[in-house]
Amino acid sequence: MTQSISSKLQSLLDEADRIKKQIHQETLSQQELEQKYFGKKGLFTVLSKQITSIPKNDKPQAGKVINHLKQDLQDFIEELSTYSSDPLTQQAKIDLTLPGKNPIIGHLHPISQAINQISGIFEKIGFIRVRYPEVDWDWYAFTSLNMPSNHPARDEWETFFVDQPPHHKKGKMVLTPHTSNGQVREMERVGEPPIRMINIARCYRRQQDVTHTQMFHQFEGLVIDKGITIQHLKGTIDYFAQQFYGPGSKSRIRPFHFKFTEPSFEVDFSCHICEGTGYITNPDNSQQRTKCRFCKSGWHEVGGAGMVHPNVLKAGGIDPSKYTGFAFGWGIERTYTLKEGLNIDDIRLLYSSKLNFLHQF
Ligand code: DAH
Repeated sequence: MTQSISSKLQSLLDEADRIKKQIHQETLSQQELEQKYFGKKGLFTVLSKQITSIPKNDKPQAGKVINHLKQDLQDFIEELSTYSSDPLTQQAKIDLTLPGKNPIIGHLHPISQAINQISGIFEKIGFIRVRYPEVDWDWYAFTSLNMPSNHPARDEWETFFVDQPPHHKKGKMVLTPHTSNGQVREMERVGEPPIRMINIARCYRRQQDVTHTQMFHQFEGLVIDKGITIQHLKGTIDYFAQQFYGPGSKSRIRPFHFKFTEPSFEVDFSCHICEGTGYITNPDNSQQRTKCRFCKSGWHEVGGAGMVHPNVLKAGGIDPSKYTGFAFGWGIERTYTLKEGLNIDDIRLLYSSKLNFLHQF
């Protein structure tokens, strides 16, 4: 239950606030300021006296405010004296041998840092970074990806629909629930393969908990050329694991089902804590081991992948009898928070705007 404060305390708080604001506009000398604020009839002295008339319950809070104000006033007057216009006093007060105060410098948000790193990793092996609309037609988000309207697979994407008339061919507008909308768009942009795309964008879904935010990011890889096989896909995933998580990181693919790839996989990366074993060995007794608490039996699932379905190639105007391709799509927040030493177990913190949290990265 919140207790309302007495009107006496309120007026003391208001007065303290006014004095605090006023001091920074003062142009008086140090001596004059001391007189004005701390003299017998000084503003601060008068204010302190009011404490006696404040109800007992409110006294501790009043005391705190008065103490802070006193400190602020003293600091200000002290600081002012350092910059006194008298050159002799100035020499005496400024210690030139003291190190300066560092200004607070901001830095890129951790997710922007991850995006830059991921782009760099794929650009090194010839992928081209692209971005496609984050508000897109149903055709690119679903239908062209072998998910006809009313197909139950669509439910998994928990999509936000935009309230506006549908396009006569491309259907409704959606907030993109995944970056796979870039696949057919990239096929249309490039025309004839080879295609090596890395599409990084924001995605939106109706979901919110410790591992999900309604707005998040994905990166989508797409490679189409003659003779592309699962080995190319696995090699690319391994390369990414080593570059992003460090040498020694491993990846694995498990059979799964997506409408737009055949065959389809889920992709896991090895846990850096237990090095993919699922167990932590006691450093003092190698016979003793406990289950790793960070992962599920040695691995972390990050997203999906597979060989591009012939219907998707056709939707993008590419002949599936001539070309094959692989694709993958992973969440950036999830991929990033699995990095060694981060220990972020609630991804919503990334978007909380809490600077003391963000400054750590
Ligand atoms: N778009 C899928 C999702 O958001 C992930 C995905 C799976 C992307 C397989 C792909 C893929 O490119 O081949 O869950």
